[in-house]
Amino acid sequence: MKVDVLVGLQWGDEGKGKIVDVLSPEYDIIARFQGGPNAGHTIESEGYKFILHTIPSGILNSNTTNIIGNGVIIDPYILRKEIDILKEKADVDIFRNLLVSRRSHLILPTHRLLDAVYESAKGSTKIGSTLKGIGPTYTDKTGRNGIRIGDLASPNFYQKYEDLKNRHLQIASNYSVDLNAITIEGLSFDEYEGLWMESLTTLKQLRVIDCEYYIQRALWNGKRVLAEGAQGSLLDIDYGAYPYVTSSNTVAPAVCIGLGVPTSYIDKVFGVFKAYCTRVGNGPFPTELNDEIGDFLRKEGHEFGSTTGRPRRCGWLDIPALRYSVMLNGVTHLFLTKTDVLNKLETIRVCDKYRIEDEEIEDFPYDYSEAAPIYVQRKGWTRSLANVSCVSGLPKELGDYLHLIETRVGIPIVMVSTGPDRHETIMVRPIR
Ligand code: GDP
Ligand code: IMO
Ligand code: MG
Repeated sequence: MKVDVLVGLQWGDEGKGKIVDVLSPEYDIIARFQGGPNAGHTIESEGYKFILHTIPSGILNSNTTNIIGNGVIIDPYILRKEIDILKEKADVDIFRNLLVSRRSHLILPTHRLLDAVYESAKGSTKIGSTLKGIGPTYTDKTGRNGIRIGDLASPNFYQKYEDLKNRHLQIASNYSVDLNAITIEGLSFDEYEGLWMESLTTLKQLRVIDCEYYIQRALWNGKRVLAEGAQGSLLDIDYGAYPYVTSSNTVAPAVCIGLGVPTSYIDKVFGVFKAYCTRVGNGPFPTELNDEIGDFLRKEGHEFGSTTGRPRRCGWLDIPALRYSVMLNGVTHLFLTKTDVLNKLETIRVCDKYRIEDEEIEDFPYDYSEAAPIYVQRKGWTRSLANVSCVSGLPKELGDYLHLIETRVGIPIVMVSTGPDRHETIMVRPIR
């Protein structure tokens, strides 16, 4: 057996959580391979709504094993909150169905403090980070200073913690930022650190695995594995519009490193994208709409961050950027979400090319902030999709929209999502 991969093709929040939840009955294992609690993956069904930050989105399916892979970084406090909510509101056997890699790194309270300090020091050039400590934790990982889940069992754990914390405080003291004024999750540093320490007890109750052996043996035994990406391809540390990116590789090849599987083990690559674009945080966004249509998309699509509650910037679909993501990921199947958000629009625009200076280009440029969109226009379908349950019921104009995307990107759309609920999903083609 091989690993299928699901990734976001834009700037995150494409609806990955919903699609993973829909697909999860087809898989034995769902595994996160990168990112941390900067992610917020929403699952809605029959009136309940869960937002997962660290736990894979297969967790509501009691027959699926969920793995937090070694490429993921973990904040014990946030993970404990997620576990507590699931234990209270869902019929899930967390301690049986959730496994964590020994090699995953820990996000310390001082990583979050540093994230806030760096952002504050950047002033108007700040990234707009989720302030979950992502950048500082991955920096310590690659700088070989980090603390891993496996270290929790070590008698030196608290010494390692103190050493790293002091190192962070030393760095923070070099900035002219009032550290006492920084709160984490609305708490003072000391309060947060106390709860973080308490949360280690929950973390220690989880089954710790050697992810690379576990997954490979599962595959040899015929188990079906889906790797769940976080963030989006345009936030990738190498391929996004640097420095307005996250601190991990978000594209599908990161699965090999983040779970411990060879490249030859990757099979299908599912790319999820919205019918328009959104972005939280700063950075270039050529198709952004700072007008009433942008406000309409935000309101209609409830475009407020699942992790931070921030309003998401909204704009038209960007085809060259989508094609770039499809290329980098080797996408084999496209999943289109939030189609219903466009229901009321008379006219829909799509960025087909960019203009930079006097030149028209179709590739994603090194300096994305220079790209001015060139649009093509299509008629909207101006009707509700609420009662549409199969592809033959889709309005003709929506069919034309799908066709436009497929021909420009060169990959078939297999599923169209028409609402947040698990059941608001239309199969366009079988997934083969
Ligand atoms: P993720 O980070 O990619 O998992 O996406 P988020 O959960 O952060 O954001 C997607 C939001 O859109 C969530 O609130 C979902 O419940 C919602 N959603 C997903 N698919 C659809 C859809 O087809 N239509 C609408 N209206 N909402 C959707
Ligand atoms: P999911 O998995 C949307 C954005 C932040 C910021 C930049 C860097 O829910 O799609 P970071 O905290 O990673 O240092 O922030 O990346 N960002 C996301 N935007 N969805 C996400 O995750 C994101 N994770 C990070 O807003 O612009
Ligand atoms: Mg999200």
